[in-house]
Amino acid sequence: MGYSSEVVKKVRQEFENKRQRAVTLAETHCTEAYAKCPVLMEINRALSLTGLSVLNASFGNPKGLEERIAAVKKENQDLQATKRQLLKQAGFPEDYTDIKYECEKCGDTGYVGVNMCQCMKKALVKEAYNSSGLGKVLNTQTFKNFNLEYYSDEKQEGMVSDRDIMQNILEKSKQYVSDFGKSGKEANLLFTGTTGLGKTHITTAIAKGVIDKGFDVVYDSAQNVMRAFEQQRFDKNESAAFDVDRYFECDLLIIDDLGTELRNSFTQSVLYNLLNTRINSGKCMIISTNLDETALLLKIYDERITSRLIGSFKFFKFVGKDIRIKKTKQNKK
Ligand SMILES: Nc1ncnc2c1ncn2[C@@H]1O[C@H](COP(=O)(O)OP(=O)(O)OP(=O)(O)O)[C@@H](O)[C@H]1O
Ligand SMILES: [Mg+2]
Ligand SMILES: [Zn+2]
Repeated sequence: MGYSSEVVKKVRQEFENKRQRAVTLAETHCTEAYAKCPVLMEINRALSLTGLSVLNASFGNPKGLEERIAAVKKENQDLQATKRQLLKQAGFPEDYTDIKYECEKCGDTGYVGVNMCQCMKKALVKEAYNSSGLGKVLNTQTFKNFNLEYYSDEKQEGMVSDRDIMQNILEKSKQYVSDFGKSGKEANLLFTGTTGLGKTHITTAIAKGVIDKGFDVVYDSAQNVMRAFEQQRFDKNESAAFDVDRYFECDLLIIDDLGTELRNSFTQSVLYNLLNTRINSGKCMIISTNLDETALLLKIYDERITSRLIGSFKFFKFVGKDIRIKKTKQNKK
């Protein structure tokens, strides 16, 4: 559980790089400043020994310890002040030779003591967004801007309205995010419905919520998933092999537009294997499809696949009229 090792590795490397850049820049500035004002080198050397001086001061007679440490501190402050003044006189900013980390709290190490710094947590989430396959839409397709007014609230005798149905789907989806990762709550969802009803929108919103909780999420269309398996198997393509591994390993796999992929015996066995492996290891999936239930279940896939879909997924049927068209009409007005 948790972000993929690639994500963590990448972020660690970024931190290492930016820390190194900050150090190198300060070194360049030092060389420049020392050339103009050599005594600065002595001062910086003395300052770098402050830690040692404090340590020395703390040995020996406990009596007078506080005074000795205070004296070291005072000396340090005086040196700092002189340094700032000299830099200014030489025409540099006062802090020119300081190492300037992006994050002062952790000095760009990503850790404050044993705890991960907020800045590294943020960087991990951002990288996890990128690596999820969703990227920018994570900001536009959210729960917040999932508008129920697009669905009719008309009710026929004894029936619920489209809006009621969609409200239930919205609530269940939010619940899915808050339950994600709690043991015993593992679930797979299958979203069905015709085009433009918000299946991808809701799935994206779920993905964001689950990534924000610290889980590795992979989103891909069924076509891309199948293509990756083919390239891994027949072309021995390395990046495809990497994708395939993540389809098996990630905490939440989202397969969009199931049914649009080319189907042959290879893709059927791939899909079976992927579903079966993930179900057996208790890893979650969300699948969306335009196919209606009966077509999906009875005509298109092997019995081994359909029986797993029926047995292990909760089905939600999206209703209403194409929101893509409604939005385009609105924009034209
Ligand atoms: N309830 C909603 N509120 C606001 N925007 C929505 C809503 N539902 C869908 N949209 C927007 O309408 C467009 C189409 O929705 P989406 O892509 O989620 O449909 P879909 O059901 O996945 O369709 P398809 O089956 O064609 O993939 C998107 O831009 C999406 O953000
Ligand atoms: Mg879609
Ligand atoms: Zn930090």
